[in-house]
Amino acid sequence: MLSAFHLSRFRLTALSLIATALTLAACSAPPSSPSSTLPLAPESASGYRTDLQTRHATHHMAAAANPLAAEAGREMLRRGGSAIDAAIAMQAVLTLVEPQSSGIGGGALIVLWDGKTVRTYDGRETAPAGATEKLFLQADGQPMPFTQAQIGGRSVGTPGVLRALELAHQKHGRLPWAQLFEPAIELAEQGFAISPRLHLLIASDSKLRNSPEMAAYFLNTDGSPKAIGTRLKNPALAVVFQRIAKEGADALYKGAIAQEIVAKVQGHANPGSLSLNDLQHYRAKERAPLCTDYKRWQVCGMPPPSSGGIAVAQILGTLQALETRDKRFALAPMKPVKSNAPAGIEPAAQAVHLISEAERLAYADRAQYVADTDFVPVPVKGLVDPTYLASRAALIGERSMGTAQPGTPPGIQVAYAPDRSPLRISTSQVVAVDDQGGAVSMTTTIESAFGSHLMVQGFLLNNEMTDFSFIPEENGQKVANRVEPGKRPRSSMAPTLIFDRQSGEFVASVGSPGGSQIIEYVTKTTVGLLDWNLDAQAAINLPNFGSRNGPTELERGQFSPALIRELKDKGHSVSEIDMTSGTQAIVRVKDAQGKASLAGGADPRREGEALGD
Ligand code: GLY
Repeated sequence: MLSAFHLSRFRLTALSLIATALTLAACSAPPSSPSSTLPLAPESASGYRTDLQTRHATHHMAAAANPLAAEAGREMLRRGGSAIDAAIAMQAVLTLVEPQSSGIGGGALIVLWDGKTVRTYDGRETAPAGATEKLFLQADGQPMPFTQAQIGGRSVGTPGVLRALELAHQKHGRLPWAQLFEPAIELAEQGFAISPRLHLLIASDSKLRNSPEMAAYFLNTDGSPKAIGTRLKNPALAVVFQRIAKEGADALYKGAIAQEIVAKVQGHANPGSLSLNDLQHYRAKERAPLCTDYKRWQVCGMPPPSSGGIAVAQILGTLQALETRDKRFALAPMKPVKSNAPAGIEPAAQAVHLISEAERLAYADRAQYVADTDFVPVPVKGLVDPTYLASRAALIGERSMGTAQPGTPPGIQVAYAPDRSPLRISTSQVVAVDDQGGAVSMTTTIESAFGSHLMVQGFLLNNEMTDFSFIPEENGQKVANRVEPGKRPRSSMAPTLIFDRQSGEFVASVGSPGGSQIIEYVTKTTVGLLDWNLDAQAAINLPNFGSRNGPTELERGQFSPALIRELKDKGHSVSEIDMTSGTQAIVRVKDAQGKASLAGGADPRREGEALGD
């Protein structure tokens, strides 16, 4: 249990954070009246914080999308916990305070450095045994509208995050499992203040009122969203956490909670097939990390079922090949410049051009080839092969290519039709570095904002099945990422660890939410840290940009007219949109004497914080 000292310190800090949230709310909150149903995309930005500074620490650091979660992570590190201990405590608190983005009803991908080896843990949801490739097709064979697919039991995959955390804890945990749930249990019992961002997402979700449990929890009796600062207690979730603390992940996958999950999914008017058998047989998997060289660094990420690690590796490899081909394309001299926009900094137009072009090529391959390797052969090695990437880099010139075609990497075994799914956004990110130098990057998700809108005992079930292609085949050719029973939907999550190639030392832990845009956000931050030598906060602050093989996307309000003109002159079709990353990063830095310390940052577009000692 928490010692009296730890308990009061945790409570005090939690209260001061609530006070901060309320002050923030008073300055910048949207109105909380019933009429504040805002026409926002899921996971829209909650404002851009211009006051964030890189945080420094000498021993350990934890960062998450909500200060209460970051506080819980740091608390575990203070008690001598490992990076994964901190991540587990943060995930438990995020389930409570950021329920729109992630939680124990969802899935996660974890990249972990234990001081010697990089390991990855796959807690991605699986399609129920009863799912078929027609899951999201209407009677006329056309794909369902997204909301029809999302809301209800149909979209719910077998949750995986808790099993993955349990597996990682068995191997790398230092604190007892039960201790890791103490902050979340206390907050669920005592209550936490609704943050401006949670309020914003409640207010913008017109479907939320259709779920009696969600309405009772998030809305006032008149149907209006509960105001910022309202203390939300979640005694049902506190009991779930108490049971998980005592019984392990089995508490969720067997017995009464599992039965309730199944009843909710199967009993909904838009039912799914998730069964007790699916829950009981779910297994998290340890997978070999995908590590590739980038200049003097090694970048390690998640292999399939995520496309994130492959795409980030491809983009960086393509940029490196481009630079090798022609020094005029070297990124390092293209340093960002000061700007008058909220970010205060703007990348060079030529850097936006080159990175967007490299991304077009990677997203074209992603759509064609990447899915769960337990079900389809994916030419992973071929996709990140330096010779193949040099051939892709040869397609990049001074003008935009518009739309890239997939390449033919070595190792293709089966011809697939491309996945033409629309590209959507969501999710959360935690990073931690412990006293022993161990590090973790975990991206975690229930997919869309508030997932499937099914609430069981105070937590939400995912709608991760919508990450599959709704269309199973095209012109007689199967889509690699089609629904199949037991298969994991392709993810874009890209939890990333970076190392110095020569010394093997850990350099950085990075990751972001944002659905298919995650790849753009992680690439931007990585290039900012490595090529432009920006500090953690500046690299995250850098305006978001890139291309998912459609238009060139620029974060709205952050780019100068001159840059936009230059891109258009190069033939780019420019789309200025909200690009709500939620990047957290911790970087190991050295002073002139070679003494190492930690520098961390959190995304100004959300409510996160990096906290260390
Ligand atoms: N659901 C977001 C992702 O896995 O990419």
